[in-house]
Amino acid sequence: MSDMPDASIRPDGSTHFNGAPADSDRNSLTVSPDGPILLHDFHLVDTLAHFNRENTPERKPHAKGSGAFGTWRTTSDVSQYTKASLFQPGASCKMLARFSTVAGELGSPDTWRDVRGFALKFYTDEGNYDMVGNNTPIFFVRDPMKFPHFIRSQRRLPASGLRDQDMQWDFWTLNPESAHQVTYLMGDRGLPKTWRNMNGYSSHTYMWVNEAGERFWVKYHFHTQQGVENVESAEATRIAGEDADFHRRDLFEAIERGDFPRWKLSVQVMPYEEAKTYRINPFDLTKTWPHADYPLIEVGEFELNENPRNHFAQIEQAAFSPSNLVPGIGFSPDKMLLGRVFAYPDAHRARIGTNFHQLPVNRPKTEVNVYAFDGNMNFDQSDDRATYVPNSKGHSYADFEGVVDNGWEADGEFVRQAYTLREDDDDFTQPGILVREVMDDEQRARLVETVGGIIGDLTDEVRERVYWYWTQIDGDIGRRIREFHESGGNADPLPGGAPDDAQAHADQGEVAGEK
Ligand code: HEM
Repeated sequence: MSDMPDASIRPDGSTHFNGAPADSDRNSLTVSPDGPILLHDFHLVDTLAHFNRENTPERKPHAKGSGAFGTWRTTSDVSQYTKASLFQPGASCKMLARFSTVAGELGSPDTWRDVRGFALKFYTDEGNYDMVGNNTPIFFVRDPMKFPHFIRSQRRLPASGLRDQDMQWDFWTLNPESAHQVTYLMGDRGLPKTWRNMNGYSSHTYMWVNEAGERFWVKYHFHTQQGVENVESAEATRIAGEDADFHRRDLFEAIERGDFPRWKLSVQVMPYEEAKTYRINPFDLTKTWPHADYPLIEVGEFELNENPRNHFAQIEQAAFSPSNLVPGIGFSPDKMLLGRVFAYPDAHRARIGTNFHQLPVNRPKTEVNVYAFDGNMNFDQSDDRATYVPNSKGHSYADFEGVVDNGWEADGEFVRQAYTLREDDDDFTQPGILVREVMDDEQRARLVETVGGIIGDLTDEVRERVYWYWTQIDGDIGRRIREFHESGGNADPLPGGAPDDAQAHADQGEVAGEK
């Protein structure tokens, strides 16, 4: 037998976990070449046991994704709205982005129709700031109580383990507040060509506070500088079969060849007091703010220019948390956002471990001084410091008392109700505008084909509700979806024609975030 012709083999040594030289990574310790393996071959035991523990549980949801490091730069002056150091003129910092699908598991295809995650971590000189958004400016539900139910309706049936259109549409149509996001998802933007070709949005309203203590409500829009591009359903299905990692590969390879993708950040700013009387509840996550009322104000841009060196350590174990804020930025009364503030660090503790924040990818570049100690995998050296507050040992602690600068007033009875409805707060107005005024004839035809084409497996009861749901969004679209399905996909999805109430909401002009 001739020798294997591989000059890259380097049999010149490895170590055990204790750093001492290992004998062999290829041969177990046995009693004679044909005899049994010895239990005290701890190198074999370590190798097999560590392999069994190689993964952390996958994220639930947003399991499948990838990302890269980059650079943030503030290019204009928004200091009148926020004192956050990363948004001061000329400020720059390192950052991390992770893009993902929502419903699919770790190995699922990147090109399945879904909302895409758009998670950013800025390593600022005031601590880490995380902006954990999506590629859509709105969301399916407005109360965090509904979130786990929504996600389960996208997953798999408990008995068969199969995904199921019926439970998905059952959930959506029984929660009409989902209509805006579902219209997005069933439209072209449900299938971005690459992650580089999609926008990102905070979706939520956040608070900004300036140096003088003035407060503003803001929504973030990250516009891709590569241009928004989407693929059609048949093409997405073909790619899914050929390359499940299509989007992951595209981003990695673009950065490898020096083609660094960029996104420009603009914000919509609403003066603090206006939120109380604006015709749309500005904290309802299922609504956008029309640009005519709140135009975009440019802030800066980021570029992704550094691939991870270890996907597991730097992407899989990255922990993004909407609770990671910096001075000058606050939450808002958006109930979904407030629910998320709890949910993410809790998910990280469960998924990665108690001390997930100590991992290099999650660790801020600033000094950390928390009164939380030990726990699994702790490697922070606390030396002989005080572990309690107050202390007289000269160890600093926080001791502010009074009104915080990034809060808001609240009073009233305890209720179970997500928001008081305002003049323009119904669930179907904005998705109707999206269909009539933002989509063109071709896009509307693809929407009809997409929905009409996937409701075949629904129970009759749920399908009737689907017709009702789309008819509420737009009478013409509802009718065409029914016709398309009932003709077995033979009806022309393109009839278009002037919808009855096309101008009904024209005063809203461009729907915020959708251009
Ligand atoms: C991931 C919960 C709403 C965007 C996750 C994860 C959880 C979660 C538990 C997995 C985290 C991990 O294991 O690392 C929730 C809850 C929500 C909510 C309870 C509502 C109450 C939203 C909304 C958005 C969003 C409204 C976008 C505006 C994301 C993104 C990820 C994620 C982008 C992936 C982050 C990453 O790349 O690591 N969510 N979510 N989620 N969520 Fe949410």
